[in-house]
Formats: sequence, structure tokens, C-alpha cells
Amino acid sequence: MKIAYVTSEIFPYAKTGGLGDVAGSLPIELSNLGAEVKLFMPGYTTITKKEFDLHSLPELGEINIRIADRDHVIHVFTSTLPNSTVPVYFVDCPYYFGRYEIYTSDPDEDERFILFSKSVIEIIQRLKWSPDIIHCNEWQTGLIPIYLKGNYAWDRLFEKTKTVFTIHNIAYQGKFPKESIAKAEIQHDFLINSGVCEYFGEMNFLKTAILTADAINTVSETYAQELLTTESGAGMEQFLEIRKNDFCGILNGVDYSIWNPEFDHFIPHKYSSRDLSNKMKNKRILLQRFNLPYRKNIPVIGMISRLVEQKGFDLISEGVNDLMKLNARWVILGNGNSKYEKLIKTIVKKYPKKISACFSYNEELAHLIKAGADIFLMPSRYEPCGLNQIYSLKYGTVPVVRKTGGLADTVQDWNESIAKGKETGTGFSFSEYNVLSLVQTLRRTLNMFEKKSIWAKIQLNGMRKDFSWKKSADKYVLLYEKAVSKIKRVN
Ligand code: ADP
Ligand code: GLC
Repeated sequence: MKIAYVTSEIFPYAKTGGLGDVAGSLPIELSNLGAEVKLFMPGYTTITKKEFDLHSLPELGEINIRIADRDHVIHVFTSTLPNSTVPVYFVDCPYYFGRYEIYTSDPDEDERFILFSKSVIEIIQRLKWSPDIIHCNEWQTGLIPIYLKGNYAWDRLFEKTKTVFTIHNIAYQGKFPKESIAKAEIQHDFLINSGVCEYFGEMNFLKTAILTADAINTVSETYAQELLTTESGAGMEQFLEIRKNDFCGILNGVDYSIWNPEFDHFIPHKYSSRDLSNKMKNKRILLQRFNLPYRKNIPVIGMISRLVEQKGFDLISEGVNDLMKLNARWVILGNGNSKYEKLIKTIVKKYPKKISACFSYNEELAHLIKAGADIFLMPSRYEPCGLNQIYSLKYGTVPVVRKTGGLADTVQDWNESIAKGKETGTGFSFSEYNVLSLVQTLRRTLNMFEKKSIWAKIQLNGMRKDFSWKKSADKYVLLYEKAVSKIKRVN
């Protein structure tokens, strides 16, 4: 099967969160399963030729794309995804991708990804490659299905091509003023007139994708169910309901060649489930890095997160007095919304011996926190999948999570497992999004931390879990096959 995998971020080239990790690892597994995979992403200028061994592809020529009355000349660079044979094609357009951030709030943000989506299709044409599936991710690639049905329907290269669209986070819909529809120059009057691109007077890339892709999925089974409800669907539930037969949840996998304390080249002291004594050494170094005193028996609670509403920082703020009374130290690595940065800074100022934070994007520090912390906290308001808690399990860093979306699908509560007469728990969880539940759950966690043999059991249960890609990649192949077997719709 031939798969074009299209995304706005791929680790190690550019990453803001879990999408980058998924896009840097699922394609490798698909290729191991025998698929021919090609990756496509914007050529942000931060992706330098020297660091990533980029080559230009002059044989593809210059590609001219017109957006909002301006002509752009696109070049293509290529490289091979590390530790694989999967080629990556970068859309080079400094006018749109030579900015400081991967995502911006510039008024032409829509144009950046309209251009990207069109360019991907044009590159595939020039490669004279006929993919069975174009796998699109997030709103940034959301117009590709409608372009194939409209603007590029004439091209027999795409005669059998089907599209799969993955929703990683329903909150990011690609909403723009209605003029954006005109900028996109979609050549499909029927679809445009039936309103597929428009939601409450705005252009909505996500809605367009949901209504025009051949198959749609999201990144965990529980989140797929949640998305069909008005509470969690962010308005898209009605469109997903229409596409219910073509919509499913597939849990993300993780790449254990990167996220495994046995091989992790970022961490000073490697360890495995056979012997966790080195974890303490990492804990000592972690606390030094965060300027907090080391005490073996005082647990460290770690958080690594984009600082956004989704991640539950409101609960930390509301419950700060009770939380800071707990016998624990806190380390936080985060970047994003300045509101949450300020909030955490205020807490750090008030409790400098208990909590410390670093406000940047730091890959190395993220690995050190996973290795050195005792507990990993994710009190998310909602969580489509979440990778951090899955990584933490492998590092013997016990996750404490709110039971929502992918967190519910990957962390098993210790007490609940005991209540069922089984010792299968891998962490601690709570259902209600409120301070009381969070504080009570952390108290429960800290009590268990003191019971050393039980704690070791919980750690080992987690370390033995296997969330590698194989099982989920098999499910993607089934989804692709289902899409391929569909009769081409007229619209
Ligand atoms: P989301 O995609 O919603 O941000 P995930 O848990 O799926 O959440 O994935 C987050 C990924 O981003 C993980 O690889 C995590 O280590 C990384 N990450 C998040 N914030 C930072 C940061 N400030 N520095 C380094 N890595 C980060
Ligand atoms: C999104 C979600 C996160 C998920 C990631 C990768 O950023 O917020 O839960 O793990 O995408 O699918």
C-alpha cells in the first residue's frame, strides 16, 4: 500500500507536542509493515540543511501556487527520517514558513496551510506517484480531501486515492474569517454551496475535513466516544455523527527506541525494570537542575506540558494551598500561554522550596524529568491521547491522571485494580475535574509512595506495559484498507 502522510510537524525536524512524536514514529512502523510511505511537511526555516542533511530536488522544478492574489514559487527539499528509509518532502516557501514559530497568530495563518496543502498535492503529481491513501493530520491539512474531490479530480493519478483524516485535538479547528474560503479557491461548487467549509459564519478547516475525508479517526477510543457528545465535541459532534460509520478511535503508540530509560541518551544514568537504583541518581540531578534540595524519601511530582487550558493548570492554581501542603516537591517544564506562565511563577515565588519551573521547550530536560521524577501529573480537562503518561510508565514514573480520553485508556488506577482483586494498577486517576478530587488522589498516591513494596509493584506494572506502535499501526492499515475499498463518492 502507498501512503502519503501529511502533517505540520514531525520529530526531529519540528515539534510542539505529541503530533510531532506520532508523525515521526507511526510512518516507520507502517513502513515496517510493508507500506511505501512518504512524509510531507512544511519546510520551516528552522529545519536547516546542515543539521538534517536536506537535499534539493531540482528535477521536480519550481511549483507555482497562487494564494490570495499572490504568486508563490515553491521548491522542494528532501531527507530521510532518521532510523528509517522513509523519505520526507519539505515544502520550501520562506514567505510563509520563514517565521519564528511553527504556528502563528498572523492574519495569513490560513494562507500558510492552504499553500501547504496545495503544494503537497502538486509535489505528489510531479513525483508521478499514485498513493492509495493520503493520510492528513489536523486542520492544517484539512483541505486536501476537498481539493482531491474538486481541483484535482481531473488527474487520473488520484483516481484510486482515498483520504484518511486524523483528529489529534478537536480544539484546533482552523477557524478563519469567511474570506478564507475564497482564498482557498476550492473548485467544487456543490460542496461549497452546501456549506461544508463554513461553520457559524466562519471558514472551518476541520469541519471541511470531517465532511470530505473518506475516513476519519482520532487518537484513542475513549476520545472518539467523547467527540460524539455535545460536552466534548466542540460543535463538531454533529458532523462526526453524520460520518459515524467512517469514524473510529485508534490509540497512539510510542517509539521505545527514543523513550526508554535503558537506551535514552539524554539521561545521565540509564536503568531498566531489572534495577531501578539509577533512577535515584537521575532524581538527584533533576533536583539540582531545578535548584531544589534532594531528599530520597520526598517524592518529586513532574509535569511537562504545553501551557494551555486543556492541561489542567486551573486546578493547580485553584488548589495551590492544599497542593503545596503535600509532602512533595514539584518540577514543571512548560511553554505556551503567558497566563499560565504567570500563574506558575506566582506559585514558585511563594513556595520556592517546594516548586520550581522552567519555561521553555527543552527536549533534554523533558527526558530528565521523566527519568528523575517519582510521579508524573496530568490533570487534563480533556486529553485526546496523551503521550507523556505513556512515556512515564516506561520510566517507572507513576502517572496521576484525570480519567479522560487517552489517559483513561492507558493508565489503570491501582486502587480500582485492587478492588477487583488484581494488582494490575499502573497509576492513579480521578474522574471529576475539581480540586478536591485532584488533592485526594495525590494524597492517595503519596500514601502508596511510602509503602515501598507496593510502590515498586506499581512502577513495574507500568514499565512492563507495551504501547509500541505495532498494534495501532495494524489498526491504521485496516482503516486504510476500509477506505480503499470504498466506492468513490461523487462529491
Ligand atoms: P500534547 O500533544 O497535547 O502537547 P502529548 O502528551 O501527546 O501532549 O505530547 C507532548 C509531547 O511534547 C511530549 O513528547 C512532551 O515531552 C513534549 N513537550 C511538551 N512540552 C514540552 C516542553 N516544554 N519541552 C519539551 N518537550 C515538551
Ligand atoms: C494532541 C493531543 C494529545 C495527543 C497528541 C498526539 O496534541 O492534545 O493528547 O497525544 O495530539 O496525537
